[in-house]
Amino acid sequence: MEKRKSFYITTPIYYPSDNLHIGHAYTTVAADCMARFKRMQGYDVFYLTGTDEHGQKIERAAREKGMEPIEYIDGIVANIKKLWQTLLISNTDFIRTTEPRQKEVVQKIFNRVYEQGDIILSEYEGWYCSPCETFFTERQLAEGKCPDCGRDVEMLKEESYFFKMSKYAPRLLEHIENNPDFIQPESRRNEVVNFIKSGLEDLCVSRTTFQWGIPVPFNQLHVVYVWFDALINYLTGVGYLQDDELFSRYWPADVHLMAKDIIRFHAIIWPIMLMALDLPLPKKVMAHGWIMLEGGKMSKSKGNVIDPSILVDKYGVDAVRYYLIKELSFGQDGIYSEEILVSRINSDLANDLGNLISRTAAMIIRYFQGTIPAAESSTDLDLQIKEAAQLAFSEATEKLEKLDFSNYLHATSRLVSRANKYIDETAPWQLAKDPAHTERLATVMYNLIETIRIVLILTAPAMPTLMTRANQQLGLWEDCTKVTWDEAGIWGATRSGTNISKGAALFPRVDIKTLEEGPSGATVQAETTTANEAPACEQTTEPEYISIEDFARLDLRVAEVIACEKMKKADKLLILTLKVGEEERTVVSGIAQHYTPEEMVGKKVVLLANLKPTKLRGVMSHGMILAASDDKYVDVLTVTKDIASGERVK
Ligand code: ME8
Ligand code: MG
Repeated sequence: MEKRKSFYITTPIYYPSDNLHIGHAYTTVAADCMARFKRMQGYDVFYLTGTDEHGQKIERAAREKGMEPIEYIDGIVANIKKLWQTLLISNTDFIRTTEPRQKEVVQKIFNRVYEQGDIILSEYEGWYCSPCETFFTERQLAEGKCPDCGRDVEMLKEESYFFKMSKYAPRLLEHIENNPDFIQPESRRNEVVNFIKSGLEDLCVSRTTFQWGIPVPFNQLHVVYVWFDALINYLTGVGYLQDDELFSRYWPADVHLMAKDIIRFHAIIWPIMLMALDLPLPKKVMAHGWIMLEGGKMSKSKGNVIDPSILVDKYGVDAVRYYLIKELSFGQDGIYSEEILVSRINSDLANDLGNLISRTAAMIIRYFQGTIPAAESSTDLDLQIKEAAQLAFSEATEKLEKLDFSNYLHATSRLVSRANKYIDETAPWQLAKDPAHTERLATVMYNLIETIRIVLILTAPAMPTLMTRANQQLGLWEDCTKVTWDEAGIWGATRSGTNISKGAALFPRVDIKTLEEGPSGATVQAETTTANEAPACEQTTEPEYISIEDFARLDLRVAEVIACEKMKKADKLLILTLKVGEEERTVVSGIAQHYTPEEMVGKKVVLLANLKPTKLRGVMSHGMILAASDDKYVDVLTVTKDIASGERVK
């Protein structure tokens, strides 16, 4: 038998300190979408998720409930597994770090790394944040508090084992440089590179202050640091040191998916652990953004979490998954609100996709007694819908390969809109009035069904039950489980002559009134506003609009960075040489703490070309390049398609 290409994808293993919320569901659904996509492409897929069960935080959560850790965790883990079933997560395995297989592998790894001298016993003194289970140096603290969660830290001194990470830093930097796709998105890669360059300290990989962990094999006073334990799950899950056949089939992992909170663990500590073990590194570490609530960050500790299973009960699994996958733009944060969820369901799914299918089915039933007709001839319009379908296929494929989940569903939405427009343009109800147009009408119906077939394939990784539900009416496939991704790249695969029957609406519209009964899914509301309180962002005055002519006064251009150097004695400034069409110019930009000169060269940036030239530290700057920023990041806007420098941005 020919060996199929493998694809190994993971989610973080979540802390079972409490039930999970839609943030965790996001990662798990997105990874599931990827796993299903790869399976449809014919890959031999291993999809791993699980729970990270050791450490002080878990121990405490259990004790607070008056329970033994394992007793407490077992209950939460059962809920988590049930949640994944509800969301139709197709994971291959579920790993718990309290399982014997994990203990065995962690201890063997600890031993080996110790024996080769990469782990040594020493003493640790530092600021410790116990909820985050992380030590910080004085310098890392944020105004004396934990830089991650903002809570109090305590000074702790303990005998500890240290993992000599610094030794591997140059190799890791080289790897990141040679593999531009290794850390995604790019903003995260820059963050990681800067962090490594600022100097890696050796990592404290054992604890003596509590017991709930895997014992260090040769010193029972210590338990293995929870992150050292947790990361190893990715190896244990595919049989490292236990099942060589399985391990060689799936390692290295193709993708570790997570949110940006834990990128450093995955893009620094983890690769270095693998280097110490002489194992190949994962191909990609991808960090998505945060799902926020309107009132800020959602967290188990704040108690303002949204329970996805309530949403599934209310709106159905396909709709909830669709919403999640589409909502977060690549690498960016997004806001969850039930209003947005409902409007997505009503617009994208009920109005656009559901209607396309039900209108088409109804017309084939009315005009062709339910039998799918054959396409007879084609016009320009037909060519356009065919091209739109082929574009959707290539875009959806490309975006999924890049884990750009949101744009993947934007590509399928565009095809659905194009098909609805095709109905309006071809006006089948007019054609039906005159028997002379029967052939034309048949062609239109065939093209619609063909487009629907393609849409159903392309959306299947996101919405696992839709294809089967639609197929009960459309009868396009004998066995939906055998449909492959590439079939969506073929135009004309639908057999004419098969029968369509009428069925229930695939996506019933949600009555907005159900929303007014109060938000669902929120198990606890951190803050509630009373009905007569004005919403915070209500606009009281007319906004100050500008006209398009005002905007046109900005001469925005695509510019290519052809050279770049640091400004001497100014740690924030880079001097860029830009090619703008035939012209070359110099621009000084305050981004030196976020970009190295090498990173900038080759980028196509957006230049405000008619800004009055000004002298900065003695250098004339002719314009300004655009960047997005917050208090943490600076992200220079770039043009990603092959658009020549000098072109206008408008
Ligand atoms: O960090 N938006 O577990 P964890 C988007 N055990 N994603 C979110 C999210 C939100 N609001 N909240 C959580 C741990 N996530 C460790 C991992 S791996 C070896 C060990 C998702 O329970 C996101 O994937 O805190 C994030 O990275 C993860 O849950 C953190 O889960
Ligand atoms: Mg593989």
